[in-house]
Amino acid sequence: MRLKMTANTNPIGVFDSGVGGLSVLRAMREQMPHEHVIYFGDQGHVPYGPRSMAEIQKFSEDITRFLLEHNSKLIVVACNTASAAALKYLREKFPAVPFVGMEPAVKPAAESTKTGRVGVLATPATFQGALYASVVERFGAGVELFQHTCPGLVNQIENGELNTRSTRAILEDALYPMLEKNIDTVVLGCTHYPFVIPLIQDIAGKNVRVIDPAPAVARQAKRLLESRGLVNTASASGEIRFFTSGEARAMKSALQKLLGIDGEVEKVTW
Ligand code: DGL
Repeated sequence: MRLKMTANTNPIGVFDSGVGGLSVLRAMREQMPHEHVIYFGDQGHVPYGPRSMAEIQKFSEDITRFLLEHNSKLIVVACNTASAAALKYLREKFPAVPFVGMEPAVKPAAESTKTGRVGVLATPATFQGALYASVVERFGAGVELFQHTCPGLVNQIENGELNTRSTRAILEDALYPMLEKNIDTVVLGCTHYPFVIPLIQDIAGKNVRVIDPAPAVARQAKRLLESRGLVNTASASGEIRFFTSGEARAMKSALQKLLGIDGEVEKVTW
């Protein structure tokens, strides 16, 4: 007889437009190695950044349904763009489901900047959303923020081009104008970008602090599980299942390149 899994051993659902959420997954594995995870990369629709809010909401809702069909006990929206466009919508649509979303880490940047000038890199949809406006209003007082959308960068990272000339050119276009303004902190407001931190740091110099929000998001997910009594107390390491709406091969090679793991990837269509 097959025993029904209890809620605690159910997986955490994680999604992104593509491989960016793997930067969040990496931090989650460090902090919660026993949790099972289902990762969904919407590579059939990446990038989300230039898309309309309504479109991103629709994708996010479909993915959430998929993750819930797989018994997710918590859903991490490991994508700033989907969080900006759809987090509020998802919470209204699925009131019983605990969600963890992302917002650009302006708060820690504002607390630690010495020059009072901070660069923020994110997608167009993230900057347009009400979430970013509210972050700036709540935490940006007294700090000058310089924004850039890094056109093309998400695709470069999807293609594994972490340190090529064209990727460097995109980052130089974004960073040079900010560096001229004397920023000392760069906020990564897109989950793809942590995979090019070495390049960002190389362009910006070691005195510029680069903030990857993934560890804070993983901590938040852990707190939420604890407060709801949903922690998986098993001692074995958790299993991860990977799904993509794009090409399984592309996700598989990204897993190898970005996380150094060999994982099976299942293609999903609906
Ligand atoms: N990784 C995403 C984010 O955090 C989405 C990027 C995109 O698809 O444009 O914003």
